[in-house]
Amino acid sequence: MSDERPSADHEVTVRHAVEEDDAALLAIEQVSWDASSGFPSYQDTLGNTFFARSGPEAHLVAEYDGEVVGYLRLQDKYPFPEGAGVLTINGLAIAPTARRLGAASALLEAATAEGVLRGARKISLHVHSTNTAARRLYERHGYVVEGTHPNEFLIEGALIAALDMAKML
Ligand SMILES: CC(C)(COP(=O)(O)OP(=O)(O)OC[C@H]1O[C@@H](n2cnc3c(N)ncnc32)[C@H](O)[C@@H]1OP(=O)(O)O)[C@@H](O)C(=O)NCCC(=O)NCCS
Repeated sequence: MSDERPSADHEVTVRHAVEEDDAALLAIEQVSWDASSGFPSYQDTLGNTFFARSGPEAHLVAEYDGEVVGYLRLQDKYPFPEGAGVLTINGLAIAPTARRLGAASALLEAATAEGVLRGARKISLHVHSTNTAARRLYERHGYVVEGTHPNEFLIEGALIAALDMAKML
């Protein structure tokens, strides 16, 4: 993967995930998270199938020149009717070799379109305060901080805050 930005020759596309994406998404999941973006303990819980946690229907997949480079997991936030209409992004990761090419942006735009299609009113998510890349990304896509939880997690000896962010549809 080169440093080039998307152009007519290099295209980012988004589609719904299928079972056959499992191996490619597992490989991305194994290398995408670090202490600033995720939980180091999470890597130990990863099995040999990406879709163990939730199936393809919960995922949008980004491709760069036809190669799977990332995913966004979009789910209902609440299981009861009063919370219907609030979706949550329960995971978003782009392969380190394919960053700053617009893949996450394309996934967020697709998630917004999907939310509108489903009649949702809001998309929410959690992000570590230390994850400046993701925070900037979300802000650029209209997400605002709705709440801060100071000293929420102890990661590699440092207490970090968790932020709730959301976008109204
Ligand atoms: C955060 C992440 C999803 C961004 O994916 P990406 O495909 O590289 O993002 P995009 O190319 O769509 O970037 C869009 C904008 O987001 C911001 N952004 C993305 N990465 C950034 C970085 N490393 N530093 C600063 N801003 C960044 C920029 O404003 C960027 O626009 P620009 O490239 O024109 O400056 C990716 O770095 C990643 O997978 N990180 C690890 C997992 C993670 O943190 N997931 C989110 C958990 S809440």
